[in-house]
Order: sequence, then C-alpha cells, then structure tokens
Amino acid sequence: PVAKSLFGLDELEEKLRLSYGLKKVVVVPGDCEASPFAKRELGRAGAKALLSVLRADDTVAVTGGSTLYELAEQMTAPLSMSYRDALIVPARGGLGESVEFQANTIASTMAKRIGAHYRLLHVPDLLSEEAYQSLSHEPNISEIVQIIRRSRIIVHGIGDALEMTRRRKLDEATVAKIKNAGAVAESFGHYFNEQGEVVHSMLTMGLRLEDIVRTEIVIGIAGGKRKAKAIHAVLRFGQENILVIDEAAAAEIVKQI
Ligand code: BG6
Repeated sequence: PVAKSLFGLDELEEKLRLSYGLKKVVVVPGDCEASPFAKRELGRAGAKALLSVLRADDTVAVTGGSTLYELAEQMTAPLSMSYRDALIVPARGGLGESVEFQANTIASTMAKRIGAHYRLLHVPDLLSEEAYQSLSHEPNISEIVQIIRRSRIIVHGIGDALEMTRRRKLDEATVAKIKNAGAVAESFGHYFNEQGEVVHSMLTMGLRLEDIVRTEIVIGIAGGKRKAKAIHAVLRFGQENILVIDEAAAAEIVKQI
C-alpha cells in the first residue's frame, strides 16, 4: 500500500472503478510493453484477483494470450485451500495461436498449479459454417461446450483489434470488414468499436456473447499504453467486474475519460 500510494496507483484504481462501474480494479506499476518484469507482475496480480474470488468447486473459463500465460504461471493455491473440485476450461476453441499461448495450454497449466481439474476443447480458432455445424453435433464437443458456457468465472485478455487480426492470420476481406466497422478491441473472439459495441464475431466454439452477459464474475487483464483504447472499448461493453491492468494503460485511459 505504501508503494501504491507513492505512485498514486490507488487513485488511478478508484478513478477507473467509479468511471466504469467496476467491482474491483488493480493497477500494477510500470509498463508491460516495455518490461517483461512488469508483465510478470501483471500476471501475478491477475492470479491474486482470480484466487480472491475462486471457490472450491468453481468452473473457470480462460482465454489465451501472452498475458494469460503469465497469469497461469503465477497461480499458487493457498495451503488452506483445496481446488480438487474446481474445473478450468478454455473459453473457446483456440488451435491456431502458438501452443504456449493457446487457451487449452493455459487452462491445463493453471489447473495443474492449483490441483484443479481441466477439460480441453480441441477445435480450431476459426471455423467455417459447415465445420461449426458438424462439430456442434459431436457429443464430446457439445458436452464440453455446455460446461464452458456455464462457467461462473471468465478470465480474459484484451487485444488491439488489428493486431489480433494479424495474429489470427485473418483473410484480407475479413480484416477490411473489421477495420471499416471501426473495431479497436478484440476479446474472446469478438471485435468491439470504441463505444463497446460488438462489430464482428468470429465463428468459434465455446463462450457466446450471451454467456458472457450472464456470467457472474468477468475478470479482464491487459497492459501497455498501446492497449488503452482497446481496454476502454471492452469496459464500455459493460460486462467486466474485475479489471487488472498496468500503470501505463491506466494513465492513458484516464486521459480519455
Ligand atoms: C487472445 C484472447 O488469445 O489473447 C483474446 O483470446 C485477447 O481475448 C488476446 O485479446 C490478448 O493477447 P495478449 O498476448 O496481448 O495478452
């Protein structure tokens, strides 16, 4: 707390909390774009925020990404707590990104670190209408998708829209569509404009928008000045409960509000 008030981080937290009507905001010092150390701290703060709400028998859906990777690496269950009955699942099908940043990998790392169970969803990130229809009828897949959709907690990263179109290697026409729609943010396969409206959704298996809306606890974690616009957009979408960001992003966001 001393270090926090020295940096004025607690004021940033309160300002963000009130402006976006959040339950809790955690701002870690530094800029995780510039420093791997700051990114690790962001992950640690995210892990702590998750553990503060995690119940023994919860189901948690997690997205992929380098920030969630750090969070998973920092998960440690308190000695007094057993998560034997908890279940960690990927929020969506994620084959496509590099393995270490896929939601499946993150779910399993996280589960192992706290002694919880995990289930995986082995389907590609982006599906054709045909593949989507036929996979939805696969009993194994539809069973895990039902579990994912009933998660009590979602933990997700937030990305810059165009950067995510590149990372996902979307075709030119789709990128143009997303750009022209004014997308600035991407999260859980949905693209948002500055007002927080969904302007494009990937056809993907797992969490749907309506699941996110009814999920009890949604935790967003992201950092870096360049993500300020994206974080603001996802906050305007209005489903977030807990936000974990770094000082660089927080300072930039408060300039805009
Ligand atoms: C993706 C998530 O894997 O990571 C997205 O599905 C998120 O929700 C993105 O936007 C962010 O990635 P990073 O590496 O910037 O944390």
